[in-house]
Amino acid sequence: MAIFKSIFLPFLFLFLPFLSADFVPSDIYLLSCGSSSNSSFFNRIFVGDSLKPASDFLAAGKSVVVSDRNPPQDSPSLYHTARVFTRVSSYKFNIKKNGTHLLRFHLSPFSSTGFALHSANFTISANGVFLSSISHVNDSVIKEFMVRIDTNVLEIEFQPASSSGFGFANAIEVFSAPKELITDNGAKLVDSNGGREYYKLTSQILETKYRINVGGPKLTPFNDTLWRTWVPDEPYLALKSAAKLAATFHTPNYEAGGASREVAPDIVYMTARQMNKDHSISGAKFNLTWNFPLDSNGVNHLVRLHFCDIVSSALNQLYFNVYINGYPAYRDLDLSSFSLQLSTPFYIDFIVDSGSSGDIQISVGPSDLSSSLRYNAILNGAEIMEMVNAKDMFTETEKRKRNLWVIVGPVVGGFIGLCLIVAAILAFGCKRRKKPKPRRAESAGWTSVQAYGGGSSDSKLSRGSTLASFGPNGYHSLKIPFSEIQSATNNFDKSLIIGSGGFGMVYKGVLRDNIKVAVKRGVPGSRQGLPEFHTEIAILSKIRHHHLVSLVGYCEEQSEMILVYEYMEKGPLKKQLYGSVVSPLSWKQRLEICIGAARGLHYLHTGFAQGIIHRDIKSTNILLDENYVAKVADFGLSRSGPRLDETHVSTGVKGSFGYLDPEYFRRQQLTDKSDVYSFGVVLFEVLCARPAVDPLLAREQVNLAEWALHWQRKGMLEKIVDPHLVGQINPNSLKKYGETAEKCLADYGIDRPTMGDVLWNLEYVLQLQIGPSNEPSEPVDIDDSDFPTSTAIHPSNMRRHSDEGTDNFSDISTTKVFSQLLTNDGR
Ligand SMILES: *[C@@H]1O[C@H](CO)[C@@H](O)[C@H](O)[C@H]1NC(C)=O
Ligand SMILES: *[C@@H]1O[C@H](CO)[C@@H](O)[C@H](O)[C@H]1NC(C)=O
Ligand SMILES: *[C@@H]1O[C@H](CO)[C@@H](O)[C@H](O)[C@H]1NC(C)=O
Ligand SMILES: *[C@@H]1O[C@H](CO)[C@@H](O)[C@H](O)[C@H]1NC(C)=O
Ligand SMILES: *[C@@H]1O[C@H](CO)[C@@H](O)[C@H](O)[C@H]1NC(C)=O
Ligand SMILES: *[C@@H]1O[C@H](CO)[C@@H](O)[C@H](O)[C@H]1NC(C)=O
Repeated sequence: MAIFKSIFLPFLFLFLPFLSADFVPSDIYLLSCGSSSNSSFFNRIFVGDSLKPASDFLAAGKSVVVSDRNPPQDSPSLYHTARVFTRVSSYKFNIKKNGTHLLRFHLSPFSSTGFALHSANFTISANGVFLSSISHVNDSVIKEFMVRIDTNVLEIEFQPASSSGFGFANAIEVFSAPKELITDNGAKLVDSNGGREYYKLTSQILETKYRINVGGPKLTPFNDTLWRTWVPDEPYLALKSAAKLAATFHTPNYEAGGASREVAPDIVYMTARQMNKDHSISGAKFNLTWNFPLDSNGVNHLVRLHFCDIVSSALNQLYFNVYINGYPAYRDLDLSSFSLQLSTPFYIDFIVDSGSSGDIQISVGPSDLSSSLRYNAILNGAEIMEMVNAKDMFTETEKRKRNLWVIVGPVVGGFIGLCLIVAAILAFGCKRRKKPKPRRAESAGWTSVQAYGGGSSDSKLSRGSTLASFGPNGYHSLKIPFSEIQSATNNFDKSLIIGSGGFGMVYKGVLRDNIKVAVKRGVPGSRQGLPEFHTEIAILSKIRHHHLVSLVGYCEEQSEMILVYEYMEKGPLKKQLYGSVVSPLSWKQRLEICIGAARGLHYLHTGFAQGIIHRDIKSTNILLDENYVAKVADFGLSRSGPRLDETHVSTGVKGSFGYLDPEYFRRQQLTDKSDVYSFGVVLFEVLCARPAVDPLLAREQVNLAEWALHWQRKGMLEKIVDPHLVGQINPNSLKKYGETAEKCLADYGIDRPTMGDVLWNLEYVLQLQIGPSNEPSEPVDIDDSDFPTSTAIHPSNMRRHSDEGTDNFSDISTTKVFSQLLTNDGR
């Protein structure tokens, strides 16, 4: 620590000038309560609310101004005054920008004539939605909330707990957060089920409980563009000798990464803890563990972990597991797979139940994938936020499984569990992703993912390029010698050919370590398409997803261009559907396959690899591994999604007959909805077990999409179901499935669902199939819009929330004692 301080900290000062200058919120209100003058606090001016214009914010109620006659020496002037609310009182602020806002309440109690502020007992709410109940404030605290505001006005209300009680505040901050701070890209639910994700985080109210700069110094509002305070992790580290510090002098690669400077400041990513291998004499692997006490049990928390690989000397060295409360939260995390550079900042959001002890335990430890010499595990930062007002998501989800029909009928106010069944293993779906520089490359043989500018409007993150300019030397670890490929394929034995295409042949092979692979070999000697070959490696090496066939390696020797993929035992989905099928897939298996493929595609469209359109979705490009896990393959035609300023990509029509989006065909414009169309055809193919186009059939039956839509519209889809499935499919499940496929096949892309919606609906179809048998026969339509998004602050649910208010209060005030973000700067 001493060395660290002396070498490292002075250097950090160099970065400070621009650190706090970046972000300018569109809404910002800083009030010094009960004061008739302005106070400066960490260089920001808080305006006295006893004077115009700030006094105009005081909307209603009854309040008294108090001041500390005898303030402690080092206490900031902001904390020398307070406003005491003796009746329900509120402030109203005009809001210009929709979305997440940060609300901070500074509470620094003192005794003054008539009021001992530490005995205050009150609740705070925002637009009628409960935020916190507060009593026994003994120390200076800042209570911080993240709240989505979709109204033009934000009303913050202080309500004394009893008629003789009172509330108070020394200062209030309200400002709009950068869009990337809280997103709906997916937070992983951590429990014994594993794999579920939650996509409506922005609608939750979050209260900060811990904000930790792991392995680094304390950071104050001076050091953070959102004026946050980060504290060192040491007090929470379970076994200090097991960890050692890591630090770098290089600023993080924000351009390449999944986080911006607003998500966490540089220094969080530039410092970390890693494994101290000297700790284990025997060489046994171990975890690094942190324990965070919380005063509430059974409450859901958002745990945001920050990572930046500042310990490796090359890509793909570091593989580690993340555990939360003993559950595997992220296995085999390979930070390199999301970026082609080290020192790239990322974060991952997890939703966890604080468990019976009420505490949250975070561990990182080496994965089995790491080499025995290089194993390590790191953590750069951690934030823990309570999900205020969230009903227990985990048990609600359980309940839903057991008792589906009770819940989907009426829309239950504030119920969130339904939103949770969605997807699994969307690796880093929740992250910002890198957006390499647009680059066009004419494809000759190696068509591949080309320019993609990303579909996000957070263009700030997309500056700079990394990917395209990276030669394959960046992925040295993926390089496979030609001799090894020769021996793996028995020198390209014809009997091992499992496929062919414009580029050449695909062989089955076995690498030296007994890994089965599919070897895709470009026509030997032809060096055409070399840049595309490199681009393909660059992109494929980055994309790792459970439902996408992954690249094992490549070879570029002796004028060869060879890509090596994981081998998929059960081959293409098509083969398992019709033709010489030995044991036909069950309906449940088929649904699971469709769900897997939908996840893979959803990831391509929106995940870390955002902006990739597959362009050739069909049942031969969905492969099955030995456990029938579906993986989307063949990105040969893939290309990038539209750039920011475009809504589509113009391109020559490619793809396969029978699956082709009619709109794409008409207008030669490609969007991710073209994949949705093709996927709709696959859905019918799976149901009917016949090819998308079968010229041998009667004319009206040739095209599956037309034929199936015909029966679907008549409500008689069961007429054309695969005979193997007859009697197996729950009618409600079939109905929903048919509707989902029909929506995918809408004529116009704009009318089609996103892959996320499709995924959602398929999950629901599966629930209908495996759910309880005593369900009502009338199916209930379950649209995304039917799900209450819980606690979003919006006029339409203000009423409801205030109706429920008393319930909420009694619930929460008894289970939660005051928790805090202590500011030592206070007093
Ligand atoms: C306090 O600051 C506000 C806004 O910066 C300004 O309009 C006002 O004049 C200041 N008041 C005093 C007393 O300095
Ligand atoms: C404040 O002090 C009271 C009385 O000593 C104690 O009961 C309470 O738990 C303390 N509150 C906090 C938040 O520590
Ligand atoms: C904010 O959202 C609300 C509801 O979604 C909408 O009515 C309003 O126009 C939006 N305001 C802005 C400034 O975008
Ligand atoms: C605060 O007020 C509530 C409601 O009157 C009461 O139940 C609770 O015990 C009070 N808390 C304290 C610490 O006085
Ligand atoms: C945080 O900012 C303060 C004030 O500018 C500075 O003195 C301190 O060194 C900074 N801390 C770090 C870790 O950068
Ligand atoms: C790390 O912690 C997890 C969860 O508690 C545990 O399952 C795993 O065995 C631990 N790993 C090591 C190497 O101790």
